[in-house]
Amino acid sequence: MKLRLPLRLPPPPFPAFSGRLHDARTATAVGRVLGAAVAVCFVTGLVSHVLQHPPAALADGLPSRPAWGYRLSQGLHVASGTAAVPLLLVKLWTVYPRLFARPLLRSVRHALERLSVAVLVASALFELFSGLFNTAQWYPWPFSFVPVHYAAGWLLAGSLLLHVAVKAPEIAAHWRRRSPGTLSLPAGDATDRRSLLLATGAAAGAVTLTTAGQSLTPLKGLDLLAPRHPDHGEEGLPVNRTAARAGVTAESVRDWKLYVGGPRPYEMTLDDLRAMPQTEVTLPIACVEGWSKAARWTGVRVRDLLDRAGAPEGALIRVTSLERHGAYRVMVMPHTYARDPLTLLALRLDGRELPPDHGYPARIIAPNRPGVLQTKWVSRMEAL
Ligand code: HEM
Repeated sequence: MKLRLPLRLPPPPFPAFSGRLHDARTATAVGRVLGAAVAVCFVTGLVSHVLQHPPAALADGLPSRPAWGYRLSQGLHVASGTAAVPLLLVKLWTVYPRLFARPLLRSVRHALERLSVAVLVASALFELFSGLFNTAQWYPWPFSFVPVHYAAGWLLAGSLLLHVAVKAPEIAAHWRRRSPGTLSLPAGDATDRRSLLLATGAAAGAVTLTTAGQSLTPLKGLDLLAPRHPDHGEEGLPVNRTAARAGVTAESVRDWKLYVGGPRPYEMTLDDLRAMPQTEVTLPIACVEGWSKAARWTGVRVRDLLDRAGAPEGALIRVTSLERHGAYRVMVMPHTYARDPLTLLALRLDGRELPPDHGYPARIIAPNRPGVLQTKWVSRMEAL
């Protein structure tokens, strides 16, 4: 048999989509809520990043009030990120027929637009799922979570802005149910769309309601899907890092003394600290993974300890833990926190001696601070 050239291959068997749920009105309706969730997530993510890794210009001016600030912002971060997961999946289902649109590339402008959409989809999927895995403290990747999640957040925000700008004419035409772009639809399509949007809203609402109780105490009875329950843990308060995991043993705290460095450095035993004026505060532990819970702490004001060492008012304070390893073994505290009357070197939790997993013999508790910076098993405090 003779082979005739040029060989003409049949076009690949791409599916044809006629469903109207894959149209621009549905993409806009889901996109509006998804965009709002991503915006809240981005802004609260920046707050968390600045509080944990302040840029040099802000290093000494971070506010210690409102005391519940970080609890609110990180609770919102994780809740909006969780709600965005079903919204993103529905949004991608709505627009996936675009993958089969041909010709693949029409022009250089079109190629760039598709590249930006690829970055948007990849960064959105990465950002939401890596955040979700982090709430479960599951890290199935070889890189460090914090810097990569932070960088991908900027990539997502930038590519989303570009996407909204490129689609602005379609978004404007389909923004409202009765906008000019949607008026010509058959009545049945509107009913189908309403069902899809209701189901999407119900899914986003359900995952939010069953996880928000990890930080919003009135909802804790519904906290079925969150990895943490605010009441589960020693003394009814969750623990992220136990004394055993941090390498702090009974042996390492046996002859414990606190060293306070400054112009007049000194050391104190636990009994010396107990003999000092004690202050009681109610402050939350608010974890970067989204759970938070308020508790009653009793101990010595950090500023009283610093004054005794002659530390200057505006000095940064370096706090060192007994823990053997861990990224947060050494913590630096701006003076705004160190001088706040609510900031304690806590010795007691809810009226009882601190349990080992909550930082016995002494831990930091400060207002408006991420949990990882509330150093446990404190051994040194030094004015820098
Ligand atoms: C994480 C956020 C978002 C992701 C990952 C995403 C993803 C996508 C993708 C992959 C497409 C198909 C693009 C193409 O092939 O041309 C698309 C289309 C579209 N998106 Fe988004 N999007 C997001 C947010 C938004 C927002 C906030 C809005 C508006 C409020 C929006 C409105 C639209 C519209 C109107 C289309 C065109 C649909 C059509 O013509 O059928 N998107 N989106």
